[in-house]
Amino acid sequence: MFMILRTIFGMVVGWMASGVFALLGRNSQAALTIRPDRRQFLRNAALGAVGSVLALLGAGTGLLLWPRKTGDFGSALTVRAEDVPPVDGVPYRNIQGKFFLMHNSDGLLALYTKCPHLGCTVPWVGPPDSANAFQCPCHGSMYNYVGVRTGGPAPRPMDYMAVTVDEATGNVTVNTGEISERLAYAPEQATPYPV
Ligand code: FES
Repeated sequence: MFMILRTIFGMVVGWMASGVFALLGRNSQAALTIRPDRRQFLRNAALGAVGSVLALLGAGTGLLLWPRKTGDFGSALTVRAEDVPPVDGVPYRNIQGKFFLMHNSDGLLALYTKCPHLGCTVPWVGPPDSANAFQCPCHGSMYNYVGVRTGGPAPRPMDYMAVTVDEATGNVTVNTGEISERLAYAPEQATPYPV
């Protein structure tokens, strides 16, 4: 099907091109009445076919190279109530959204996994490998449960995302496009849960 469409397209383009070339080649009113001969038509049809193939290849390459949104980062994502960790529980990780959802006595905190130092992804390392901390694998920055730096070269705590809670269902929405920096932890950064 694609081949047939391509051939038809090439012939149409070739016919149009032959007309244009004929007009350009004759600098008189009489040229308007001259139709391209068979040889011209075949040549221009071939040129049209080649042009159409190149155009399709270009469009395909453009689509391939067009940057795609990776995952759902940048949008508002829902964490189901059953996935919300208990107070001081193991953080819930959302890979597409690039956040960890923490739960302390103040409420919920969605921590951006991008290290504030040079941008590496910071994993949560729990026992037995570590005493519950975020440890950046690149230059060794460490952060506690609420993302406050406890060591390493990072200039500030981990950034956090806006969180809202659906009172009826207990589901949580994390807006991964709304990220805030901070210099220290404050209880108001957490969203009370359940409300
Ligand atoms: S990027 Fe995390 S410590 Fe350097």
